[in-house]
Amino acid sequence: MKSPAQKRPTGRAYLLILGSVLIVTAAIVTWIMWPRGPTGRADPDDAGQVARGGMVYRQYCASCHGAKLEGQPEWRIRKPDGKLPAPPHDETGHTWHHPDGDLFLLTRHGLRPPLAPNGYKSDMPAFEGTLADEDIWAVLAFIKNSWPPRIRALQRARDEAARRR
Ligand code: HEC
Repeated sequence: MKSPAQKRPTGRAYLLILGSVLIVTAAIVTWIMWPRGPTGRADPDDAGQVARGGMVYRQYCASCHGAKLEGQPEWRIRKPDGKLPAPPHDETGHTWHHPDGDLFLLTRHGLRPPLAPNGYKSDMPAFEGTLADEDIWAVLAFIKNSWPPRIRALQRARDEAARRR
């Protein structure tokens, strides 16, 4: 027959193991649920992604940003309604000044804080609910694919700087 003195360490060891398992589980769950910036990637060298992005672009973006990514005329000057015309996405535009994560959020949610001032009025639609995240990354890959190597390198540097933040 076991004396209570022999039993106690076993019970304590059991509690210790149970406690460790709970802590590890909690840590894993926290790690999975922790909010991160947008994940995913827009790879201008991935032919499949670029092709998919081209289809998305023609259907959802070209009407404003131009079939050749040339944007609308006088895109830097506000229209009589106070809103800006659609800028080009080619290397003459401003798009490549943004890191990938900002371009993704901008396309998904439109121009709203923190990427634009509160109440900012813009014709740029929010594509959340219209486009899957994969389609947004694909259209960005398509846009990046149109840039010459020099512009791609400049934008990559900005993107890498933003990821280190
Ligand atoms: C109805 C017209 C319209 C459509 C369609 C449209 N955009 Fe825009 N987009 C705009 C306008 C206008 C702006 C400039 C907004 C501003 O600064 O007020 C803009 C700005 C942007 C910017 C910011 C560029 C920069 O240099 O800051 C990105 C990125 C962008 N659009 C991506 C897209 C993508 C990707 C699509 C297709 C999935 C798309 N847009 C479809 C009108 C449109």
